[in-house]
Amino acid sequence: MRVDISSAQRLLEEGHIVGIPTETVYGLAADALNPDAVVKIFAAKNRPAFNPLICHLASKEAVFRLGKSNPNAERLAEFWPGPLTLLLKHEGRIPSIVTSGSEYCAFRVPAHSIALELLSQTGPLAAPSANKSGQVSPVRAEMVERAFGMDFPVLDGGPCVIGLESTICLPDENGVRILRSGAVSIEEIVAAGIPVIDPADSQAIVAPGQSLSHYAPTVPLVLIDPISAHATDNWKPSGISASNRATLDFGKALDLEANLRLNLSPTADLHEAARNLFFYFDLPGASNIRLLVAGIVPEQGIGRAINDRLRRAANFLGKIENGILLVRERS
Ligand code: TXA
Ligand code: MG
Repeated sequence: MRVDISSAQRLLEEGHIVGIPTETVYGLAADALNPDAVVKIFAAKNRPAFNPLICHLASKEAVFRLGKSNPNAERLAEFWPGPLTLLLKHEGRIPSIVTSGSEYCAFRVPAHSIALELLSQTGPLAAPSANKSGQVSPVRAEMVERAFGMDFPVLDGGPCVIGLESTICLPDENGVRILRSGAVSIEEIVAAGIPVIDPADSQAIVAPGQSLSHYAPTVPLVLIDPISAHATDNWKPSGISASNRATLDFGKALDLEANLRLNLSPTADLHEAARNLFFYFDLPGASNIRLLVAGIVPEQGIGRAINDRLRRAANFLGKIENGILLVRERS
């Protein structure tokens, strides 16, 4: 059920959960300061309680009233409003259900006019991606309805312009650890003069959601490196015939017969590819497709985040065959 901004605001004030648009993916929002409302997010998503939620706010000033700042956090906040989440120590006003009891809270100021207008009227909104746990993040209002039903209230903000979840950063006095790649790229962070620290370098906290199997497309996904696949030309994805196969190409990299040929970006534009990725993950299930064969994209800029999501999706299969297929066993 589509709702307008004022209905969304009223529902949130009354302690309900609402699907909201952001520039990255749709969120499943509740009043972050109302634990009885936040618990409904975990129930609706079937999300484990140890996996904390991002707190969305209307401005960086509002963030730094709740989260403790440091110089690198201040620099990173220049990317706001935008597809960036900062893990900051919080002052204790955020209920522990939002942070899973952590001394850190994740904060984000989204760059979406409807989200910002809503946030200016509601205060902090806790919102994970608006999908059932383990499924693909929704990038259109109808994907939220498909996950939670046609009666579920969704504030429609159109297709998400980024299409991948935000970059998650842990900034401290020494630099920043990137815990999830996203549209704010490592290249941009380095260019802003912020030292990037390898997250594996310390016992730094992790984003618990990142350790789970994630982004399951509706059919199993095989990920290949189109360059080495072409070099040997002897790979046969799992014996599934072309009539049951879909391909997910980028530019013109994949030379494989398939019933359904999807292209993340025919012109090899990484931003267009990011925008299309989750929408295309959702498509092949509609026909008799039993396998989706995708090619990795150039590992640069937002391409890193696209490859990260492709690898996680392929985790549902997984071993290297003939040095080519990245097919993983279901764990
Ligand atoms: O773009 C996005 O980030 C979207 C939109 C709706 O803002 N949100 C999103 O939320 O992707 P979610 O819950 O699907 O992913 C948030 C990630 C999870 O991996 C979670 O474990 C991590 O952020 N996270 C949240 N709070 C945290 C905290 N206090 N400490 C460590 N990790 C945290
Ligand atoms: Mg998510």
